[in-house]
Order: sequence, then C-alpha cells, then structure tokens
Amino acid sequence: MSCQKSIHDPRSAIHAYSMNEIKNYTPKQIVQELDRYIIGQHEAKRSVAIALRNRWRRLNVKGDMQDEIIPKNIIMIGPTGVGKTEIARRLAKLAESPFYKVEASKFTEVGYVGKDVESMIRDLTEIGVNMIRQREQECVKGKAKDLAEERLLDLLLPIKKKKAPPVDMTMTPVRIEETTVPEEEDTSRTREKLRQMLRDGKLNDRKVDLDIGPKPPAFTGGPGVPMVEIISAGGSLDDISSNLRDMFGGMFQQGKKRKKVPVPEALEILTHEEAAKLIDMETVTKMAVSFVENNGIIFIDEIDKIASRSDLRGGPDVSREGVQRDILPIVEGSTVSTKYGFVKTDHILFIASGAFHVSKPSDLIPELQGRFPIRVELNSLTKHDFLRILTEPQNSLTKQYKALMGSENVTLQFTDDALEEIASFAAKANEQMENIGARRLHTILEKVMEEVSYDANERAGTTFEITSPYVQKCLVKIIDNQDLSKYIL
Ligand SMILES: Nc1ncnc2c1ncn2[C@@H]1O[C@H](COP(=O)(O)OP(=O)(O)OP(=O)(O)O)[C@@H](O)[C@H]1O
Ligand SMILES: [Mg+2]
Repeated sequence: MSCQKSIHDPRSAIHAYSMNEIKNYTPKQIVQELDRYIIGQHEAKRSVAIALRNRWRRLNVKGDMQDEIIPKNIIMIGPTGVGKTEIARRLAKLAESPFYKVEASKFTEVGYVGKDVESMIRDLTEIGVNMIRQREQECVKGKAKDLAEERLLDLLLPIKKKKAPPVDMTMTPVRIEETTVPEEEDTSRTREKLRQMLRDGKLNDRKVDLDIGPKPPAFTGGPGVPMVEIISAGGSLDDISSNLRDMFGGMFQQGKKRKKVPVPEALEILTHEEAAKLIDMETVTKMAVSFVENNGIIFIDEIDKIASRSDLRGGPDVSREGVQRDILPIVEGSTVSTKYGFVKTDHILFIASGAFHVSKPSDLIPELQGRFPIRVELNSLTKHDFLRILTEPQNSLTKQYKALMGSENVTLQFTDDALEEIASFAAKANEQMENIGARRLHTILEKVMEEVSYDANERAGTTFEITSPYVQKCLVKIIDNQDLSKYIL
C-alpha cells in the first residue's frame, strides 16, 4: 500500500482510497501471480481471479447500479491439502485485502453453538483497521522520528543549575524542567551537539527513563469512535467484555511503568508514540471501514461440515442448519455493528471451501447455495504435481531445506531422480493411507532429511547430496510396513 493520499479531507480520501487500493490486476495477471506459488488448480485460480477483477469492475460502474452488483462468491470443492486455503490466502495478499479465515464448523462446536457469527466481520474489521493504521503510521514516520528525537533530547539533557560543564555523559538522565533552563544559547548548542552524537550512534550505550504503557494512547480508539454502540447491538458476552476492556483500558492507563531503556530502543518507542499521535484515528477508522466493505475477503473453511439439512437427519444437524441460517444474512449483505462503527457486508467477498466427501453443495440451504454461485473443483494431486510442488513454487520445500542447511554452511543438493523418488513415495503413501495431499511432502521430506538435520553443524563446509538410493534407504522400510507408515509418514 502506498501513502500518497491526503488524510486531511476524510471524505475524498476515503473515496480515493477504495478506488486506488483495489489493485487493477487483470485475471490473467492474477493467475500468473498465483502460479508462482501454487501448482496446477487452474480452474480455481481462474475463478478467484475473475471474482477479484469483478470487484474492481464494480467500483468503476457509475451510479446506483454499483450498489446492486453483488460479489460472485465462490465455493472451492476439493480434498484436503490440494491448495484451497493457499489460493485464497495468496489472493488476499496479492490484492492487499483484509483477509480473515474462519472454520464454519467452529460455530457448531460445544461451547460455540449460538456464538455470534457476526464476530467474523468484527475480526475482519480489526484486521482492516490495523492495515490502514500501519500504512498511515508509515506515512508519518519521518515526522514522527523528528518529534521523537526532540523528546529524546529533552530526556537526555540533564538539569543544569549554575554553570555546569556541557554534558556529563555518566549522569543518569533526568527530564529537564522548563524553568531551569539558564542560558538559552548554551543549552541549544549542547542540544545540537547531543543531537549529532545521537545520530552518530554515540549514545547507544546510554539509557533513559521512559514511561512505557502497554499501548500508545491513540491505539485504543480515537475521538468519535462509537465504542459503546456494540453493547446496545446485542453482541455476545465475549464481545461485550472485550469492548469494556477497550473502553476502560484508556482510562486507567493500564500498567504504565517507568523503565530504563537504551537510547536506540527509546527512540523507537517514542517514534511509535509520536506516529500514533500524528494520525487521526477517526479518519483511519472511516477509511478502514470503507476498505473492509469494498476489499474484505472472508474465507469460510469446512463449509461442508455444516452442509446437511435437518429434514434428512436429526440431532446435531439442527444446529448445522442453524449455523447456515446465521451465516446467511452476513453473506447476503447486512450491517454489522463493530467497535469501529457499522460495517456493511454486501460487497465483502466470501470464499467457502470444503472437501464435500459426505455432503454436497446441494445439501446447503437453498438461500446459501444462491449466494455462492461459483463452484469450482480442485483436483487431487498426482505424482507429477508433487514433483513440481517440490521445486517450482517461490519458496518450495526443497528451497526451504537448502536455506536451512545453508545456515549451517552445508550445501544441500537433490538429484533429479531423488526428487522423482520422493514424489512417487508421496503419491504412494497418499494412496495406501489417507490422502492428505501436498501435506504428505512435508512428512516424507522431514524423514529424508532426518540424518543431515541432526548433525548438520558437524558437516559445515561440506555438500550433502540426496540421491535416489538414499531416499530409498530412508523410506522403503517404512512405506512397506503399513502400520509403521501410519505413525511416521
Ligand atoms: N497445488 C499446490 N501447489 C503448491 N503447494 C500446495 C498445493 N496444494 C497444497 N500445497 C501446500 O500444501 C499445504 C496445504 O495446502 P492448503 O492449506 O491449501 O490445503 P487445503 O486444500 O486448504 O486443505 P484443507 O481442506 O485440509 O484445508 C500448504 O503448505 C500448501 O502450500
Ligand atoms: Mg484449508
């Protein structure tokens, strides 16, 4: 996110914000970008790419039609470990959107039944506010640093009574009282000298007294943030208590303590405090709400676990359908009260996912089916996919292990046939036992790496080559013994 937008005129800033911040990647570019991290699953990539582009298109539609266009929510159907979550997560990162993942089944669990599903919107808003706040703080960082430097100099300059020697570096620094500044010129020269020393890092060993609170003041909300609203809106007990904490946290200045802090750390803390003071939380909140409403992505995992209708079975299914009914208004578009104000969910993009082994998307209540018009199936991964997953993605597993070993000064190499072997073992293990998709590669590779991981520090300066026979040696006994492989792989 960039910070060229003006924060002084909240209204225009907000509009500019929601337009500019929707990345105008074309679907093709989005797919290309996803290809760097995820192997295959082209259909799913296409669908999410189109959904993302449609949000940008919608914001370019003029007039009241803009409000009428609803997001094309997606259900991703596919076995475990084939990249469903990964696609959604990468998409959100790419779009720089606030992203929140929630397991649908969580709402049916004991202790959660009836838990307010609106909490997902509150959590998403929290994430959005944090993103905007960070961005704004980044923008005022330069100024904040200057102010922090001044404050730090105030702390560093010791009290001078009569004609004291310029500065006694061994003295414990004490806050200077304004009334005790004797000769202005002298002080300002000392101050400049001190500033230079500070900038040159010559004061890094010194400590200053700082009042450190758990959160800088502006972090607990700002003027005009309707924090009380939520209580009247019938939130759950959880929300109410957290809200009370927010309200009173600011009043009592929770545990503000005076501490001795090294100069560099003090500068950092003060910069943070000054940045928080410089940004206007009211504007940040407004921007964030608009940001979340137009850019937010909610990923509902395990939707298949709540997909069965009470007329088919009984008992726990009632609560499952109940959860679907709870989720429905949020997906359909409603207004949720959060501590940052009301958030409209109409244009938030929902991506649901599930294996749908037992149930089918058609087992969802019709209204919910209608709200997820795009269904896309992900394929199970083959040996060929595994081979590519091992090496091709940006931070593929083999690259990770090479880097890990590199930190011990060991050069790790995989021969081509070793990679083939690992991929085929993974496919075999998935066939023989449970199909856990690409996650199998983690367990297999960990086993292959066991020996060298253990004593890499003693191998510094050497090269360790993983060959096909070596992989065989590590895995053959385990894979042939089904009982053993259930535990190890
Ligand atoms: N097609 C793929 N390309 C690259 N990596 C993959 C692919 N599929 C899965 N992975 C890797 O496997 C792991 C699990 O993938 P992910 O979390 O996306 O699974 P999932 O489909 O959401 O499964 P579940 O249904 O259990 O939630 C991740 O570390 C991911 O990077
Ligand atoms: Mg997942």
